Amino acid sequence: MRILSGIQPSGELHIGNYFGAMRQHVALQEKGEGIYFIADYHSMTSVRDAALRRELVRDLALDYLACGLDPERSILYRQSDLPEVCELAWLLTTVTPMGLLERSHAFKDKVAQGLPVDHGLFAYPVLMAADILIYNADLVPVGQDQKQHLEMARDIAQRFNHTYGAEVFRLPEPHILEDVAVVPGTDGRKMSKSYDNVLRMFWPQKRLKKAVMAIVTDSTPVEEPKDTDQTLFQLWSLFSTRDEREEMFARARAGGLGYGDVKKDLLARLLAHFAPQRERREELAKHPDDVEDVLAQGAKRARALGAPVVAAARQAAGLGC
Ligand code: TRP
Repeated sequence: MRILSGIQPSGELHIGNYFGAMRQHVALQEKGEGIYFIADYHSMTSVRDAALRRELVRDLALDYLACGLDPERSILYRQSDLPEVCELAWLLTTVTPMGLLERSHAFKDKVAQGLPVDHGLFAYPVLMAADILIYNADLVPVGQDQKQHLEMARDIAQRFNHTYGAEVFRLPEPHILEDVAVVPGTDGRKMSKSYDNVLRMFWPQKRLKKAVMAIVTDSTPVEEPKDTDQTLFQLWSLFSTRDEREEMFARARAGGLGYGDVKKDLLARLLAHFAPQRERREELAKHPDDVEDVLAQGAKRARALGAPVVAAARQAAGLGC
């Protein structure tokens, strides 16, 4: 089974990215051939600073490796090291109806927010389809927010196959972990860099503590029963077992539990949970050349897998001789 996913280098990893995507990527390495990439072409739709992009790519490579991506087993590469993905995106874009892209939630959101939009943002799902289809990937683990992009990739693949009467592309399956796909941010909205409500697992302890202590709660007095369906308990639950959860929720409902204590416990759990990753990242950061080697090797292996598919697509479309 071929498993493929990408993450945009758009800022230091936060626990929303971790639980929504990276953790699944790392776990799925056991299940098949994992191909993971750093989507730096996609980041061009939002990041417009060359030095910053390079830094974000390096950071994300460190994050992946620190979180347990094993380069012996899986492929990790930088998207732009495979420019043929852009060629494939062109082949696909010529069979993609405007209406399909106009229905993109991500695009419509940006328009609704009044943000300046360009063609790159509009065509984003086509490039994403190329990322996936170039490997004939079977399984694409993504967060809930990417589900529509996956459906578009399937649709685009089908249209290409149909247009040229050839089974060039396999239709990929989304793999969405429903229960952990959406991690609330410290203000109760979805955790997102743009809301400034994130918890970053590689932050220094002091900074992390400050952010945890700032998590919004309701104003129920200590002695009163607590509503467990709120941000603090949702975040706390990410770091607990089912039994621990039942016990904590029972205590909350009984009254007498202070939010401050829950926050302190959450911080301790967070730090304990990410201690190995924090240590590994620090060590890896001392050897940037080794990280670059991993990416170069990854690109080489990815190219070998993608080349036959690009060749088949060109052949089907009558490009070249
Ligand atoms: N759009 C994805 C995100 O923002 C990143 C991405 C780009 C991706 N290409 C992909 C994910 C291909 C899965 C497969 O999270």
